[in-house]
Amino acid sequence: MKRIRVIEIIQTEPKNQNVLVKGWVRSFRSNRFIALNDGSTINNIQLVIDFENFPEDQIRRITVGSCIAAQGELIPSQGSGQKSEVRVVQFEILGDADPGIYPLQPKKHSLEFLREIAHLRFRTNTFGSIFRIRHHVAFAIHRFFHERGFYYLHSPVITASDAEGAGEMFHVTSLDLSRIPFNDQKEVEYKKDFFGRPANLTVSGQLEAELAAMALSQVYTFGPTFRAENSNTTRHLAEFWMIEPEVAFNDIFDNMDLAEDMLKYVIGKVMTECTDDLKFLLDREEEEQKSKPQQERNEMNLLQRLQFCLDHQFERVSYTDAIEILRNSNPNKKGKFQYAVESWGTDLQSEHERYLVEKHYKKPVILFNYPKDIKAFYMRQNDDGKTVAAMDILFPGIGEIVGGSQREERYDRLASRMKEMHIPTEEMYWYLDTRRFGSCPHAGFGLGFERLMLFITGMGNIRDVIPFPRYPGYAEF
Ligand code: 4AD
Ligand code: MG
Repeated sequence: MKRIRVIEIIQTEPKNQNVLVKGWVRSFRSNRFIALNDGSTINNIQLVIDFENFPEDQIRRITVGSCIAAQGELIPSQGSGQKSEVRVVQFEILGDADPGIYPLQPKKHSLEFLREIAHLRFRTNTFGSIFRIRHHVAFAIHRFFHERGFYYLHSPVITASDAEGAGEMFHVTSLDLSRIPFNDQKEVEYKKDFFGRPANLTVSGQLEAELAAMALSQVYTFGPTFRAENSNTTRHLAEFWMIEPEVAFNDIFDNMDLAEDMLKYVIGKVMTECTDDLKFLLDREEEEQKSKPQQERNEMNLLQRLQFCLDHQFERVSYTDAIEILRNSNPNKKGKFQYAVESWGTDLQSEHERYLVEKHYKKPVILFNYPKDIKAFYMRQNDDGKTVAAMDILFPGIGEIVGGSQREERYDRLASRMKEMHIPTEEMYWYLDTRRFGSCPHAGFGLGFERLMLFITGMGNIRDVIPFPRYPGYAEF
């Protein structure tokens, strides 16, 4: 007999038909009612067992967390709360879960505790919802680009270049670290290493995406990226997933439109495809809000925030205008910012970004034309000689969710900027070649997948929206 998934069974009209369900026990009440979940939906199917008809030692093995296969009749439910239930005729324990040591009990566990048992947290309602939603978000992103004629490009995970020029890379080596070969100048002899040269995990697939865009016109990457930055925050991971479209002939304003369209498309899709899971996360957040002081509570609930994002055009503001707003803001004048905003040219801290988004504009903001000295070497230099055509999208509660730019397509400008910033031009001949042969204006951006997941799920910590987070001092599982 074929197994029916819980999501199908709860939508099936109960007519005493014979069904087989398999899943994990979420609760077992009165020695009679089992709530069974198989991850296909947040909802459980109720199994009703006449314990009198089964050996006692078998009934005793039905514990929270155990895995069972049950066969029986699908009947209209006698109790309230569910339409149908399965009257069990026979069942088999596929895997026991000793209640004395099984860490997940039907009570509220803290997210911190669940992070320590990330191998089991999939079995909670919260993480079931999050990872189902994560799938839908990823799928919607692929669909968005596919529908618009983009090609999915697999950029390399191991590379020799530093795409951001920020030096935050994890080295990749097969050398024996206890016997590193040095030359006479006490430099590592990379010739003896696996690739015959230094290599690292990629911080971004952008440069390779640019190469492809110079022939395929519209491409995007979607893969893991790695940053060895020592940031212990609720918004940083050492391994995160990034989506990086790159489009020939786009300028920075086309780039903004593309990013805004994509975000709205994805959020809209999730709102229609993940209603049960979003409802669960909404209720969860409402519950959590009750324990917070009034002034720290959200003005809008999760669904309202998502809808708000769909209904409003993102505000477009130049860096220069943003600095003026921040300089004249109340928190700046009253010394409430940890980093006071004084002069043009300084980088914005997340407190500043959040002020602009949450207090001043009260909606997503696209900041553009940043000072060239705080941005990467590949960004297109504006005619004013001091800014570049960069754009960041800032989201409420999150800060930067997207970073992108129009690229410097002029060979001389790019080469001289690379030299100024000590980016090795000989090694990166391949990148410069695109500007030597058939160059054209082009633009792209990077969306932090987990940052988007934070916004969509309303979760507060980025470590809770990726299955197995990696951050300084932590790489368990
Ligand atoms: O702003 P970033 O560093 O831009 C780039 O990497 C460009 N190459 C993108 C491009 O133009 N193709 O990173 C892009 C986004 C950020 O806006 C943020 O959402 C996310 O990636 N991000 C991180 N997410 C989690 N943990 C980290 N440590 C992150 N660093 C960046
Ligand atoms: Mg950035």
